[in-house]
Amino acid sequence: MSDTIRENRRVSGFSKFNKHQRREWLLNHFLQGHDDGEFAFFDANSSDLQEVVDNFSENTLANFPLPFGIAPNFLINGELYAVPMVIEESSVVAAASSAAKYWMSRGGFEAEIVATEKLGQLHFRWAGAPERRAALFPELERRLRHATADITARMEKRGGGVRSMQWKHLPEVNEQCYQLLVSFGTGDSMGANFINTVLEAYATEIQLWSSDSPLLTDRERDLEVIMAILSNHTPNCVVNARVRCPIEKMNLAGSGVDAADFVRRFSLAVDIARHDPYRAVTHNKGIMNGIDSVVLATGNDFRAVESAAHAFAAEGGTYRSLSRCRVVDNVFIFELTVPLALGTVGGLTRLHPLADLALDVLGRPTANQLMCVAAATGLAQNFAALRSLVTTGIQRGHMKMHLQNVLSSLDASPTERKATTSFFEGRTISHHGVRQYLDKLRGEG
Ligand code: MEV
Repeated sequence: MSDTIRENRRVSGFSKFNKHQRREWLLNHFLQGHDDGEFAFFDANSSDLQEVVDNFSENTLANFPLPFGIAPNFLINGELYAVPMVIEESSVVAAASSAAKYWMSRGGFEAEIVATEKLGQLHFRWAGAPERRAALFPELERRLRHATADITARMEKRGGGVRSMQWKHLPEVNEQCYQLLVSFGTGDSMGANFINTVLEAYATEIQLWSSDSPLLTDRERDLEVIMAILSNHTPNCVVNARVRCPIEKMNLAGSGVDAADFVRRFSLAVDIARHDPYRAVTHNKGIMNGIDSVVLATGNDFRAVESAAHAFAAEGGTYRSLSRCRVVDNVFIFELTVPLALGTVGGLTRLHPLADLALDVLGRPTANQLMCVAAATGLAQNFAALRSLVTTGIQRGHMKMHLQNVLSSLDASPTERKATTSFFEGRTISHHGVRQYLDKLRGEG
C-alpha cells in the first residue's frame, strides 16, 4: 500500500459523520466500484426501526441481516415451546427441530435451575495487612451497602440485590492486591448494568472510607481503586437439562441402526469428548450452536455466555464436554450442565423488536425459564450432532442444506431447484458440479 493511499485512508471525526457521509467515505476510500445502494438495500423500511438499530452501536452504516428461525416441538418441563433461533449456519435449526421432535415422543426435556448467582469484582491496591480485614470489613460492608441503598432498593423488590461480599487478598498478583468479590441476584435481568453501577458506587465509597474511617491507621489509608466490573465467570448461575429414555425405545426410524448399538456408540462419543480436549471443543461448539441461537434471538449477550461456558468446561484444569451421558438400569440419560447468565427484561430484550417478539413466542419467560429453554436447545443440538456423527456422518445433512445455498447463489428457479435436488440425491455435491448440471439444464430448456 502506498503512503498516499495510507494517508488518504486516515480519518478523524468519523463518529461525527452522519450515515450518508460514513458510507460515502467508505466507498471513496475502500470500496471503489461499489455504490451506496449496496448498503441502502438493507435499510429498514421504517425510519423508527432504523433509528433503533442504528443506536445499538457506533459508526453504523448498514444493517447486517441474519436469519430468524423457529425450532418447533420443544417439550420442556411439560410445556411445548417453539424456540426462536438466530443463526447463519445451515442445518442447525433443522437439527434442533429434528431432535426436539425425537424427544417430544420420549418424554421431552427436563430442565432445572441449579443456582442463579452473578458476580462482580472491585479490584484495589491497599497497603494494609491482610489479617486486619476481619476487623475492618463489617464497617466497610455497612458503608458500601448504605451508599448504594437507593440503587439496590428497586432490584430488591424484584427479588435481587447484593447477596454477600468477600474481601479477598491476591498475593499471587501482588502483596497489596485485594478484591471485593460481590455476589448479586438480578431477578429477570441479565444484570450487567445493575452490577456495574453498584460496583462503581462501591469504588467511590471505598475511596472515601479509606480517607475518613476512624478505624484506619495512616498506612491503611493508602488505598487505590484499580477497576470495578462484573465477572462473566458465572459458575453459580447454572442450569441442568436432561433427556432420558429406555434404551429399547432409542430407535432411529429408517436408519437400520439398532437402538442398543446406537446408544453404545453415542455414549462412547460423549466419553471421548469428556476426556479429549480437541474433541471437547468441537462437541461444545455444537452445544453452543443451539444455545447461542436462542441467546441471540432473545437479545442476550452471546459473548458473555460463550466465555462463561468455556471457563466452566475448563474447570478443574482440563477442557471437557459440557454434556454427559450414562446408562442406568437400561435407561439412557443424556444431560447438559451449563452456566447461562440470561435476562428477559432490560437491555436489548426490550429494545430490539425481534428479540421482544421472540420472548412473546416463548410466552414471556422468566430468566430462569429462558435458561431452561436455551439449555434444552443446546442439548438437542448436541444430541442431533452426535446422532449424525455416530450413524450417517455429518456431511449428508449439511450437503442437503449446502445444495440449497449453492442453488440460491446460482439464481435457480423453483423448477430448477426441484430437478437439481432430485438429481443430486445420493450424489456428491460440489459448487462446480451443481453449476455444470444447471448449465446443462438451462441449455436444454
Ligand atoms: C458444527 O457446527 C457442529 C458439530 O461439529 C458439532 C460436533 O461435532 O459435535 C457438528
